[in-house]
Amino acid sequence: MITHKDHFHGSDLEKIEKIYGVKKEDIISFSANVNPHGISPLMKKNIKDNLDCISAYPDRQYTALRNSISNYCDCDAADVIVGNGTTELISLFIKILQPKKAIVLGPTYSEYEREVTLNGGTTLYYPLKEENDFKLDINHFTSKLDSSIDLIVLCNPNNPTSSAIPKTDMRNILDVCKENDIYVLVDETYVEFVDEIKKYSSVSLCTYYNNIIVLRGTSKFFAAPGLRLGYAITGNNDLKKEIIKRQDPWSINSLADIAGQVMFSDTDYIKQTRDLINAEKERMYNYFKQSSKFKPFKPEANFMLVKILNDDLDSEILFERAIKENLMIRDCSTFPFLNNKFFRFCFMNPEDNDKLIECLSR
Ligand SMILES: Cc1ncc(COP(=O)(O)O)c(C=O)c1O
Repeated sequence: MITHKDHFHGSDLEKIEKIYGVKKEDIISFSANVNPHGISPLMKKNIKDNLDCISAYPDRQYTALRNSISNYCDCDAADVIVGNGTTELISLFIKILQPKKAIVLGPTYSEYEREVTLNGGTTLYYPLKEENDFKLDINHFTSKLDSSIDLIVLCNPNNPTSSAIPKTDMRNILDVCKENDIYVLVDETYVEFVDEIKKYSSVSLCTYYNNIIVLRGTSKFFAAPGLRLGYAITGNNDLKKEIIKRQDPWSINSLADIAGQVMFSDTDYIKQTRDLINAEKERMYNYFKQSSKFKPFKPEANFMLVKILNDDLDSEILFERAIKENLMIRDCSTFPFLNNKFFRFCFMNPEDNDKLIECLSR
């Protein structure tokens, strides 16, 4: 058996190709959490028709792009800041805030801790409990907050647990944070995959609270991680000014600028994606729920965390079994608070999902 001590991000296909001898073009990535529909056809046509735009600098204020995002998110265009992926905005925001003490959920996406550490701060984990299906206990969480904390990062829905915090609970968190002078960063990279966006998105709260910034991207729902287009929404004018002041000019290229002016209005594509993900989310959850080998945790996003109940199996064995059949899942053993009994996969097309079920349950 090939052993690996590394763990792979969903985008590490070159590494996988080398280690396992599978061609990266043949790999079905259940670990990248990207919409299996591929990119919006409307956007594709528009980029093709406008290739010449790269011979000019993009609008430095990105006015048309920000207007398109504000229509899509139902917020004020003046509150929208665009960035080179969500990643640039996470980094810029943490550089500006310079939090000495930050709280993140455990387990969660690792980038927040990395940025806090790079900027000289300390990150503490608030553990999500397995017996609570990795859902946040709001009363307990808010009872632990005090003014020594500078920043809370909430990935909503959370990667890798796929659990989500409803807006009503987010409001309670923001109230306690306001009293304690704590900033809240909400990463909504996966929010468009939830059944009812309005119930979970915090975008509308940016009008009432000045201690919140919401981040979103186009890498996952719009299947465009190579485009590097993300955006932030905040009603805090000082923060907006500071982000724009620190950001390199033209950090979004002309093609991403044009793409973003079109993709958010491709309503057919958006509906098809939501229908597919909702149907597969339910089907895959029900399948794993009736299996005696696995325990799935109810997914709100386009991916699901699963616990292996069988004593003879672990996440490394399953990863290797799947990758040999060109199916790449996420071994979750390296996430804090998880271990080699957990794996994560995203929902792909039905026939690919069937292949995964067949492979894992064999
Ligand atoms: C929760 C979360 N936020 C942000 C990102 C990075 O997003 P982007 O491609 O928009 O920089 C990822 C990528 O996996 C993610 O899972």
